[in-house]
Amino acid sequence: MSNLLTIAMPKGRIFIEAVELLRKAGYKLPPEFDDSRKLIIDVPEEGLRFILSKPMDVATYVEHGVADVGIAGKDVLLEEERDVYELLDLKISYCYLAVAGLPDTKMNDVAPRVATKYPNVAEAYFREQGEQVEIIKLNGSIELAPIIGLSDRIVDIVSTGRTLKENGLVEYERIKDVTSRFVVNPVSYRIKDRQIDDMVKRLSEVV
Ligand code: PRP
Repeated sequence: MSNLLTIAMPKGRIFIEAVELLRKAGYKLPPEFDDSRKLIIDVPEEGLRFILSKPMDVATYVEHGVADVGIAGKDVLLEEERDVYELLDLKISYCYLAVAGLPDTKMNDVAPRVATKYPNVAEAYFREQGEQVEIIKLNGSIELAPIIGLSDRIVDIVSTGRTLKENGLVEYERIKDVTSRFVVNPVSYRIKDRQIDDMVKRLSEVV
């Protein structure tokens, strides 16, 4: 068992901003962070081990304790409902969850279909609206669904809005704002409280 503090990081667009934030907080991260295909990067000088995971899996690693802490989007936390403590809003990677579809279209009256990477979020949202929908789970390129007739609506992340626009889709409702959060495994927090509190303090100073 390593006594490095293990931190699960989301690969992809959040990664760059998260690394920047950690550097701002004073962590000396080697250049391999900027261009590497490695999935585990140890930085023993800082007492840290980084696990580079799919964004949707960060909270899973933290819940199971293979990562002590992690950086996860609020979208992932809402979807996955993992047993982790959310200690800090890092206020990076701002985007929002929205309902979108083809312009000037109504949802089908009978069994409307909603395609999404976020089945739980979508299900809960439409239930609150009193609408019964069939959820179609996809893993990416969600915007294809209404264009090719797979669904009436999508629930997906909107960041710059370019993907919707370039595919001729419009936003119908905004569901929730999303930023990245610092999350912690409850047992790790008891055992490595000093290291974790130090990281939270340093991050909160630069957020
Ligand atoms: C996300 C999201 C949208 C897009 C929104 O997809 O699912 O498709 O980004 O960003 P925009 O508003 O700036 O265009 P991602 O690029 O993560 O890939 P995916 O389609 O594989 O999920």
